This record gives sequence, C-alpha cells and structure tokens, in this order.
Amino acid sequence: MVNSDIKALIHQLTLEEKAALCCGKTAWETLPIERLGIPSIVMSDGPHGVRRSPDMASSSLPATCFPSASALAATWDVDLLYEMGEALADESIALGVDVLLGPGINIKRTPLCGRNFEYFSEDPYLGGELAASLINGIQSKGVGTSLKHFAVNNQETERMTISAEVDNRTLHEIYLLGFKHTIRKSNPWTVMCTYNRVNGIHASEHRQLLTEILRDNWGYEGVVVSDWGAVHDRVKALEAGLDLEMPGPQDHRAQLVVQAVQSGRLEESILDRSVERVLGLVAKAQQTPKADTTADTNANHTLARGVAGEAIVLLKNEGNLLPLDRPNTLAVIGLAAKQPHYQGGGSSHVNATQIDIPFEELGMVAGDAELSYAPGYTMEEGFDQILIDEAVAVARKSDVALLFVALPPFKESEGYDRPDIDLTEQQVALIKAVSAVQPHCVVILNNGSPVAMQDWIDQAPAVIEAWLMGQAGGGAVADVLFGLVNPSGRLAETFPMRLADTPAYTNFLGEAGRVYYGERLYVGYRYYDVKECDVLYPFGYGLSYTTFEYSNLRIDQPVIQGEEPLIITVDVTNTGLMAGKETVQIYVSDVDISTVHPIKELKGFAKVFLEPNETKTVTVPLRASAFAYYDLGSGEWTTKSGRFEILVCRSAADTVLRETVTLETENARPRRLGRLSTLGEWLANPQGKDVLEPKLATLFAQLEDLEIDLVGTRLYVGDILLETLLIWFGKDLPASPEAVVAQLLAEVETAS
Ligand code: GLC
Repeated sequence: MVNSDIKALIHQLTLEEKAALCCGKTAWETLPIERLGIPSIVMSDGPHGVRRSPDMASSSLPATCFPSASALAATWDVDLLYEMGEALADESIALGVDVLLGPGINIKRTPLCGRNFEYFSEDPYLGGELAASLINGIQSKGVGTSLKHFAVNNQETERMTISAEVDNRTLHEIYLLGFKHTIRKSNPWTVMCTYNRVNGIHASEHRQLLTEILRDNWGYEGVVVSDWGAVHDRVKALEAGLDLEMPGPQDHRAQLVVQAVQSGRLEESILDRSVERVLGLVAKAQQTPKADTTADTNANHTLARGVAGEAIVLLKNEGNLLPLDRPNTLAVIGLAAKQPHYQGGGSSHVNATQIDIPFEELGMVAGDAELSYAPGYTMEEGFDQILIDEAVAVARKSDVALLFVALPPFKESEGYDRPDIDLTEQQVALIKAVSAVQPHCVVILNNGSPVAMQDWIDQAPAVIEAWLMGQAGGGAVADVLFGLVNPSGRLAETFPMRLADTPAYTNFLGEAGRVYYGERLYVGYRYYDVKECDVLYPFGYGLSYTTFEYSNLRIDQPVIQGEEPLIITVDVTNTGLMAGKETVQIYVSDVDISTVHPIKELKGFAKVFLEPNETKTVTVPLRASAFAYYDLGSGEWTTKSGRFEILVCRSAADTVLRETVTLETENARPRRLGRLSTLGEWLANPQGKDVLEPKLATLFAQLEDLEIDLVGTRLYVGDILLETLLIWFGKDLPASPEAVVAQLLAEVETAS
C-alpha cells in the first residue's frame, strides 16, 4: 500500500469504515478492512522488552527483559542503545508485533514519580539523544515505536485527571525538548499522548500540543495514538490531532464520529487526515513481514548483560575495595541476590526468557571462594530483627559482605508514586548492622530512581547502583564486582541528600486536580546549580576502576556566526592500570545572563574507550540550538548575541576545562512592541528606537524630569510603560497618551 493507494483507499472507504479505522479493534490490534485488503497491525508494550499478550489481562509470551530506561540512560552509550533497539525489533518481529510501545522519555521532575524507572533523565537533551538511538535501532528493522507520554506526564498520582500547570518556556525548554529532539533524530512511527491534562486540557484533546507544536512547528507526520483509555471526547480528539484511539473496540465512539460528520459538527477532511495517517502506519508495518521467524534470545540475553554492565554506576569505592581481589569467603546478603528485582511493575512488565541469579553468577566468577547467604529482608512491609541477626552472623565470619538491596514494589511502580525516597526501614537497619561488623562491605542497589543514603553511606566503603537491571543483571553485577567489566555508568539523574532538597518538593502532587510546576526550568542539576545546593551524587557522576585526565581543549570558532555547528575537541587519557570508558560531558553556560536561565545545560557528550596510558581526541559538535532559549515574549526559540562558556565536565559538579566563545546572531528577536511596552522595550527594539528617540524631546518637554539618558535608560525609567510616562510627564501631547502610543506603533509597523 503506497501513498497513492492510500488516497485511493480513502475514497473507497465508507464513513463508518473511516471512523472505525481510527479506533482499535482489540486491546492491541488496529481494525482490518478485509474488503479493501487493509490488514490489522499489532501494537505491544514495552520500552525494554516485548510484552506480547492476547489481551490486557493475560500473561505475555517470553521475551528478553532488558534493563529499564533509567539504567539505559546511565550507559550514555548511543551505539549500545541502537544495538538494543535492533534486538527488540528482532523479538517484535518474531512475536508478530508491528509497533513497540516505547520508549518513555518523560522528564524526571522528582524522584518520587513511581514510573521514573521507565524514563531516561532529568535532562531533555540526554533523554532525547538516547531515546532517538533506541528508536532508530528498532525502526531500522521495520518495527515501529511509540514515543511516550506526550506530554508533561511526571507523576502517577491522579495520572488520568491531574492538570500539569506549566508556563510556556518551561514547557518548551524542559518538558517538550526531549520529544522534539527525539522526533527530529528518529521520526518515531507513532507518538503516544498522555492521560493527564496540560494547563487544564486533556492531552488527547490538546490542539496546541498535538497539532500546533507537534505537527505545524516540528513537522511530525506520523500517527498520534492515545494512551490506553486516554480519549474522553472522540470528536474533539480528532479535531485536536489525535488519530488512533486505543484500546478498541469503541463502536459507540465510532458512531459518534459518523454522526458528527453527518451533522456537520466535524469536517470529514479532519477524519480523512487521521485515516490517511493510520493507513500510512499500516503500510509501513506491512513492509516488514512479522511472525514465523525466531529471534536469537540467547544472544539477546548476552546483549542484555552487556547493557546492564554498562549501566552500573560505581558510586563509592573507598580503599579500592572493588574490584574484589579473590576473597576466600563471601557473604551474599539480601533477598535480591536470590530473587533478583530486575524490572518495574505495570505495563512495561516482561515475561523474561531466563533470569541470571546474582548468587549463582557470583559463584561462577568467584573462583574457590566459599559463598554464604542470608536474605536479610523481605519484599513486604514490616520489620524482622531475626533476618538482620542472621545476616550479621554470616557477614561477621566472611572476608567480604555483598548487600543486594532492592527497592520493593510497594515502594516504586507504575500506577502510584513513591511515598519517599528511602529504602525500607529493614533494609537501612540491615546495611547499618552488617557494615558495623564487616568493614569490607559492598552495597549493590536495585532501584528505578534515586534513594536516600544518608543513614548508612558513611559506613559502606563501596556502593554500586545497578538499577532495574533486566534479566541478565545478575551476571552483569558479578562481572563488575570481580573486575571483568570496568564500571562506566554515569548518573542521568541527581541523587539528592534529602527529599526536601528536591526541586519539586513544595509543588509535588498538586491540589484540587492541578499540580503547579513552580520550579519552572530548574529541574534536576539545573535546580541544584542555581540553589548552590549540595547533592549526594551529581548528574553525570560515576567512578571507574581506572582514572582519566583531560587536556588540550580546542574550539574551532571562538566567534560563532550562523548555523554551522561549533566543534569542541578535547584529549582524554587513561592514566590508570585498567582499560575503561569515560563519558565527556559538554555543558553550555550563558555568561551574559540577561534572561532567567539555568547556570549551565548539557548540550553534548561522547563516551570513549581507552586502554591504560592511551590518549584519544574526543570531538563533540554543538548545534546552534545549543545556545537558544525559548523567548516567552515572541513565543519562539531564539538566540541572543553574547558570551557563552563551554564547560568540559566529568559531571555537573566537576568542570575540568572551560573556554569562552562569543555568539553573534542576527536572529535575536526583540520583544514585539505593543500598547503596554515599556520605554526600555521601545529603546531595545531597533525600529522602536528609530521612531521614538527623535520624538522624545517633543513628547517630554523637560527630559531631565525623566532623567533619560539617550544613550541608555536608567533601569527604573526603562521599566515603566511609555504610555504611563506620557501620562505622568507628557507635555502638549497632540492626542491622548494611548493615541500617541498607537501612532508610534503604526510608524514602527511601517518601518518594519
Ligand atoms: C499504560 C501506559 C502506557 C502503555 C499503555 C498500554 O497505561 O501508560 O505506557 O503503553 O497503557 O499498556
């Protein structure tokens, strides 16, 4: 079915068939129209493994469960995510899935969001880069994706009704930027609209989001599919730009659409627009035959182990306790060592093909070491001192104690938010008790989002963050603990000292159905920077078993003009004894801050492998958009001339090298003048200044009254409306102050 066929098909479809095509046939399938040879296609979760099930209730068919998004983000490895995408596509094809419902790239506004495990980062650039790679990998094999959840879905509480109240600049620079970046770099076959409302309007009926921004502004031409059950008014949704309602069937809704067209309430051309997009999706899916093939799930399990290993972040390693050096006895403590907590709850849940048990995997790499085990805690609420005592007993008599601590599902899942960012009381007590008797103690964390560590971090010499590590995570943890893999993960989200330090702390959950994004642009490291607030572990942080040095920063153009990317080049040397990977992070800092602006923002990164003593030159291009901000006045992305610092960092808290560049840009749009513009805005606007300046002496007989310095204006006077100044000080005006301003505006329009 090619485009010309699609146009022809639309003419052959009845109105009833067109309306029905824009609703699912079942929970996971679109509607076929056999008489015209239009097949049904299959959509299935999820973002890190195929959850192929016949309906919304049944368990799904076996598939590889890869690490979840918060782990994927910690790899900072775009090539690896592309490779994972290819593997997901193979398994989708084998299981007859045409569109995989993921990835989710909602911003981690607060660590309390129960679904953060399924999202990438607190930073839209990083999330967009990684999601685009995963999507490109999946779609490279003819399987579609669904970039979700569009947009501003950052909590699970009241997720179907809450209204995210967010100003336009924050919306564009933080909550939409990742989607915009991903769409530009990967063109996902579908975008999934979220359940919640944005500034009072349900996303499924949000014309500004689904049409004005997504299509008119970004040029997206794919299908907008609803989250499952996110449509409330099918006619309004179609008008807003929502093409496909899921799940199906929704015969009564299709009938409403038919009636709306027949009554003239809905233009048939709007329905045809969505039908054309849905048929386009079906046509794309048809080009890749599905099912009757098998995927190499063993190879994918090995790949999942590699991804989990790349995701592990070495947070602490006092005395270089890690990698373990052939201990004779090893106390393996924690239920998660034998019952690994490797994925999150909810729609992303995968029926894993196999599961690496950490305890067993350790046995395979620990040589002749004698392993002992104690569960230490359960995944239920409650406190059991006996479990702690048992664990202390095995820890006391071992060379090393490994504490596998997994956040239990009642603390973190899709569908509800976290009550706090703490481990359970039992787990905290366990860590403190074990580390009190065993100085060689390593904590291995399995959680989807940051946890507080204040109560025990000083007692634990080594800590690794293994995330929700997927089915092969047990092997990956063993690889890292014994040095078969040198950890290279870097945090894609800040680990705060305390929940009360977090940006959304005073605005989280909301009230009366609205949640106010009062922290605005200041999410994650953007917040901690501007508040000068210490954190436990910063964005971009991660240790290695080796060390790296940076040198020789070069920037190809100290003065930036036009759209040419800026090329940042820096040498990185492995100055340690073990091969390893370093992630060079490039942040941009607006030196001449004249607007509200985060202190620095991530705008580029590159991960590099280095043998001991090896030096490589790392090159990171910065696009012109790296210097842009969303101007609330003009309602457009804009840049302003001025100085910017290019920061080369190991993390958001560790700048290694820096260089200042100057941006000369013509497209700094001055604020559009209007009746209520200030004197300062008039004089900052080239046309406004040309019109007004020659008239000032006439309009204000005693200029000194205003203390106006024609070269500039004192801040106070500049901030007063021109009209008000005319009311206060205007002399012998030819008309009312309003009329004078209107005349001046007309002259500006003529001059523009
Ligand atoms: C869920 C999720 C969405 C998922 C869909 C289908 O409610 O919000 O991410 O893809 O429904 O299961």
